[in-house]
Amino acid sequence: MPQLIAGNWKMHMLRGPAGELAAGVRAGARGLACELLVCPPFTAIETVARALGGSEVAVGGQDCHPKGQGAHTGDVSAAMLRDAGASWVILGHSERRQNHGETDELIREKVLAAVDAGLMPIVCVGETEDQRVAGQETEVVGWQIAGSLPKPFAGVVAYEPVWAIGTGRTATEQDVAIMHAFIREELGRQFGEAGQGIRILHGGSMRPANAASLLAVRHVGGGLIGGASLKADDFLAIARAARGADGV
Ligand code: PGA
Repeated sequence: MPQLIAGNWKMHMLRGPAGELAAGVRAGARGLACELLVCPPFTAIETVARALGGSEVAVGGQDCHPKGQGAHTGDVSAAMLRDAGASWVILGHSERRQNHGETDELIREKVLAAVDAGLMPIVCVGETEDQRVAGQETEVVGWQIAGSLPKPFAGVVAYEPVWAIGTGRTATEQDVAIMHAFIREELGRQFGEAGQGIRILHGGSMRPANAASLLAVRHVGGGLIGGASLKADDFLAIARAARGADGV
């Protein structure tokens, strides 16, 4: 399976610059070995989906509500994301876990809603700095996987150590190897054979300068890129460092 390079634009980009960024990604995407995905804010999804129409680059949302519709002011359903042109959705990002108090149980419900609407979910897990200092990183991530992923699970997992997100700090290759091997084992334990095929993205300050070494680590199935996905050149440079068919 090819590696997946996913851009998480977070709360950046009005529609004008979003369309330009999407066009820039599209222009450099042809012939790449990896799969490409960009996840703009809700308001730019339709613009970006139009700019990428007929290309190899997929579009995703950054969150959805667990219910299909109803009295949920300010929320967006999975079907609405799909209607706007998305085929993927990021769920349980640490910024949502922290800033919106999202629990594993809520994230699991969102995953079910996403799959129901025909979206491919990327479920984020990762320990905080305090948890790592306390030596609890595998325990925390194991619980997050057990709690946030429904069974069966046909999606992608993204491991992002919280202390590496937006900080410029990255996990060492050795730490990445340990955590991704642990997650692979845990997925096998919890999902059997099917767990072996689940891609595990790495995220947290991935950029052109460190992408090749992080993406070469065993059981790294791609990258979830925040800051460096906001410039087409940087995002494409990371994508060029990614692997094709043997990328899981
Ligand atoms: P970063 O963000 O690349 O800016 O660290 C990654 C993410 O939060 O998905």
